[in-house]
Amino acid sequence: MKKTVLDYLLKIRIPVTLFIILLTFAVTYFVAKPERDGIGYAPEQPIKFSHKLHAGNMNIDCKYCHTSVDKGRFASVPSADICMNCHSVARRDKEEIKKLVEYYEKNQPIPWKRVHKLGDFAYFNHSVHINKSIDCKNCHGDVARMEVISQVNSFTMGACLDCHRQAHSRLPELKDKIKKGPDNCNACHR
Ligand code: HEC
Ligand code: HEC
Ligand code: HEC
Ligand code: HEC
Ligand code: HEC
Repeated sequence: MKKTVLDYLLKIRIPVTLFIILLTFAVTYFVAKPERDGIGYAPEQPIKFSHKLHAGNMNIDCKYCHTSVDKGRFASVPSADICMNCHSVARRDKEEIKKLVEYYEKNQPIPWKRVHKLGDFAYFNHSVHINKSIDCKNCHGDVARMEVISQVNSFTMGACLDCHRQAHSRLPELKDKIKKGPDNCNACHR
């Protein structure tokens, strides 16, 4: 019998489907991967906010500003009204505080530049890690000593797995409290 176009299509359908899946994945990867990710990345911010001054010298708790870090997936960056709790009085005459007051009065969000960012195809949840007492330092370095925040660790898949597989030797003080982190693909790619 002569082969019809339909037979031909049926025969190549499986390889074509596979090819399309791979292509979609590759395209998503290159489009979603943020170029700005990388060690040493420290963008200039719209207001010269210093962690060293606030979290270091003044010892303000990280969670005072990053309110959702132990509650949900994202840590949240504070809005101007949290700053105004103090700066409606403190250092009103300074240039950088004038900028802050202007955002606040115009009711505009401060356009902070994002420093750490995973591609959309990877899932990370702060609260799970924080509620197991894993300190911010393990991933973000000693922020309380940073004048300008920068990325100090690698945020690649290898870096996540490195800690997950050796969690008990990487975090000896928590050995009795934590399990190993997952290394099955769908834990982080959902
Ligand atoms: C007084 C408020 C305040 C306190 C306290 C504070 N932060 Fe922040 N944090 C900010 C603001 C504002 C930004 C955004 C501007 C910047 O990146 O400097 C920020 C940014 C960050 C970022 C980078 C976010 C990104 O875009 O990737 C990290 C990480 C961070 N903070 C960690 C910490 C840690 C850890 C502590 C405690 C040791 C802390 N912060 C204490 C206000 C605060
Ligand atoms: C186990 C590693 C890890 C720990 C511990 C950790 N972070 Fe993060 N942090 C990340 C990753 C990964 C991102 C990027 C998340 C993304 O792009 O989805 C991030 C991003 C952030 C951001 C940017 C906003 C956001 O939520 O994406 C802030 C602010 C931040 N972290 C603050 C903190 C503070 C404060 C602590 C401690 C209380 C902390 N982080 C502990 C890994 C960690
Ligand atoms: C708990 C009180 C408090 C909070 C909250 C706070 N600050 Fe401050 N901030 C201060 C004090 C006090 C100083 C002055 C410290 C000094 O000079 O020794 C200061 C200094 C500053 C300076 C330096 C001003 C200068 O030029 O001397 C900037 C900029 C600043 N803060 C921005 C912010 C921003 C942005 C936020 C919110 C993300 C914020 N602060 C939240 C208390 C606070
Ligand atoms: C410093 C060590 C450390 C680093 C770095 C780390 N993790 Fe984890 N993670 C853990 C530990 C420990 C657990 C398990 C805690 C438990 O269940 O006792 C965990 C659990 C998880 C879970 C399972 C809980 C959930 O949210 O569903 C996911 C997903 C996860 N991590 C994603 C990531 C990703 C993505 C990264 C990299 C961006 C990362 N982790 C970096 C230590 C780490
Ligand atoms: C602990 C969390 C975690 C687990 C488990 C995990 N990944 Fe990933 N994966 C990530 C993160 C984080 C990235 C990088 C995100 C970025 O570049 O912003 C990534 C990136 C990737 C990429 C893009 C290429 C690259 O290397 O950056 C592929 C493909 C991938 N993962 C496949 C897998 C497969 C297949 C598995 C199971 C064998 C797996 N992942 C398990 C967190 C994880």
